[in-house]
Amino acid sequence: MTSASDLDTPAVTVDLDVMEANIRRVQAHLDQHGIANRPHIKTHKIPEIGRMQMAAGAVGITCQKLGEVEVFTDADVADDVLLTFNILGRDKTDRLMALSRRLRRLAVVLDNEVVARGLSEAGAAHRLDVPFLVECDTGFGRNGVQTPDDAFDLAQTAMRLPRLHFQGLMTFPNRDPSTRIFFERALELFKRAGIPVRTVSGGGTPGIFTAQNFPMLTEHRAGTCVYNDVMVVASGTATWDDCAMRVRATVVSRPNDARAVLDAGTKVLTSDQYGTKGYGHIVEYPEGLVSGLSEEHAIVDLTACRERPRVGDVVHVIPNHCCVVSNMVDEVYGVRKGRLEATWPVAARGKVR
Ligand SMILES: Cc1ncc(COP(=O)(O)O)c(C=O)c1O
Repeated sequence: MTSASDLDTPAVTVDLDVMEANIRRVQAHLDQHGIANRPHIKTHKIPEIGRMQMAAGAVGITCQKLGEVEVFTDADVADDVLLTFNILGRDKTDRLMALSRRLRRLAVVLDNEVVARGLSEAGAAHRLDVPFLVECDTGFGRNGVQTPDDAFDLAQTAMRLPRLHFQGLMTFPNRDPSTRIFFERALELFKRAGIPVRTVSGGGTPGIFTAQNFPMLTEHRAGTCVYNDVMVVASGTATWDDCAMRVRATVVSRPNDARAVLDAGTKVLTSDQYGTKGYGHIVEYPEGLVSGLSEEHAIVDLTACRERPRVGDVVHVIPNHCCVVSNMVDEVYGVRKGRLEATWPVAARGKVR
């Protein structure tokens, strides 16, 4: 098979020209501002794409789960990895230690003393140093210490534990002005105490092109920008033309004049909405609204469409949230100008531990 139009549906495709341009654009922007690029591979979970990001100039990669680090280490993608998740429990700390032996640098984040103690015990048991960043909640309301003072106190507590080495601060996502204010205050505390902060790590795709407004950032972690999706377009960070991922789907039913049904439901498009309207953007029918999904069906409201598809037509849906779509399929197809150029197994698919 050489043509993308031969791909059976549903199928997840990536336009290679668009993806390569996305990789170049992000790298160029961060280079221009002297901020290191540490792409988050949870978006694609494909080592070949990670290698392209490294070749473009990334300093290393970000992973969310140990299983992703394992897959990307096996594939020899990068020797400098940041794992942005609190690692808890012997099973996981043992796996972390095994990976540390294989990488030049494997840094972790932590936002509480329980995690710090577990990492320290593992480091001591395995005779390995554990570099860490303190995760700071600078406005998102997820993980992270709540105040600059807490960041300083936790760093100090953890630094006193065997084998733990403080390297810096991390947040997700950059928020203006709360992230800047948080980091300014925290950095002042470390400066006064004479503790060097080597890394200040920001993150998020909507924050890439304004990362330079946070002068303390030494690196930025973004994932979604490699493909882009409805959410990123809604945030104003990309246009439809910058969206590389498509879910190729067939119109399997036209029960009435205003409704079409596609053969891709929550098991491909996923139910993520993140405040967007509908469940994806249909390239051929932009006025069509993917109004509902069941597991294997997408319901499309065609009321606003002048042209309407027929049963058997193939359409392409830009998903709301591309990162979760990656986790739904065994392979992703790389397409260039309509030709099928690559079939990539999603090697870290399902690696949620
Ligand atoms: C800790 C962390 N860093 C970076 C990212 C990348 O963000 P985005 O997908 O918006 O590029 C995420 C996304 O979930 C994240 O959780």
